Amino acid sequence: MKVFLTGANGVMGRSSIEALHRSGHDVVGLVRTPEGAAELKACGVEPCHGDLFDRETLVAGMRGCDAVANLATKVPIGKAALRPGSLKAIDRIRLHGSKVVADAARRADVNRIIQQSLSFIYADEHDNWIDEHSPIDVTRTTEPCVVAEAHMADFAVDGRESVSLRFGLVTGDDLNTAWLFRRAAAGRAIGLGLEDSWMHVVHPHDVGSAVVHALGAPGGTYNVGAEPVRRRDYVDTIAQAAGRREGHFLPRWILRLGGEKLEILTRSQRVSSQRFSDRTGWHPMYPKLTPDWLDDLARA
Ligand SMILES: NC(=O)c1ccc[n+]([C@@H]2O[C@H](COP(=O)([O-])OP(=O)(O)OC[C@H]3O[C@@H](n4cnc5c(N)ncnc54)[C@H](OP(=O)(O)O)[C@@H]3O)[C@@H](O)[C@H]2O)c1
Repeated sequence: MKVFLTGANGVMGRSSIEALHRSGHDVVGLVRTPEGAAELKACGVEPCHGDLFDRETLVAGMRGCDAVANLATKVPIGKAALRPGSLKAIDRIRLHGSKVVADAARRADVNRIIQQSLSFIYADEHDNWIDEHSPIDVTRTTEPCVVAEAHMADFAVDGRESVSLRFGLVTGDDLNTAWLFRRAAAGRAIGLGLEDSWMHVVHPHDVGSAVVHALGAPGGTYNVGAEPVRRRDYVDTIAQAAGRREGHFLPRWILRLGGEKLEILTRSQRVSSQRFSDRTGWHPMYPKLTPDWLDDLARA
């Protein structure tokens, strides 16, 4: 297949390019800078120069493609996430960008879209398992993801299909984990929420393999991640990879400061990805969080 990627230079995009190429697919990547285009070309990707909000560029780039994977993000990292307006760019990408991408795909006669979404949107279910039928908790922070999924569902008529992948927290050689790793290495707190609550995590390499499997998945919404992990174990794993005996949790007043932006990072989410495995044969190459997920960060 020929697959058009947005966010081709990001963590999810790079992993998807590798996995798509391994499976024999061709990739066209949306890119905004000459440096980004050179990087894509060096990995055998055909660059499409333009912005996510430039519909005409997208239509031209998508023509002749069999599928689109919308992986563009702008996630604020670390303390920057707490600044006023920090979610403006990512919200715009989710609320409006997803609609532009879906419209462009329709006009370019592409029949399948894969949308990256987040399992953070589920409500806190304590120790109960969460599957794709579990309730979501819509706040100002999660609403844009829900809207992006809805744009994809609207696309899926007249023989077209869409797949929304609700990924866990990307944990590996990526900017957010690197920020946590540096803090943990300095003995600073990185844990948020209750120590015995559950988190849903995914290794960056498993993002790419999920995108490949989504090319053949029945349309719909799927959770994608490794085994859920207790927050205490997540924090300790990062701290131990960073050379510390154990990790530390932030005081609860920080949560009040962060409001809804931080609230989603504290939800207890014991998310199952069984449905995606059952329907596509996908299995994570990294099924359980271990310190070696952070080997690249430790070596750097
Ligand atoms: N499920 C999750 O936990 C999750 C999901 C997504 C991201 N993250 C985290 O967020 C952090 C940053 O991720 P990342 O490295 O993927 O983000 P990034 O470096 O910001 O990459 C996002 C991609 O989207 C593209 N993009 C953004 N706005 C665009 C626009 N208007 N038009 C065209 N392309 C646009 C970027 O292009 P440019 O290169 O031109 O900027 C880039 O290719 C990482 O730590 C990652 O793990 C986590």
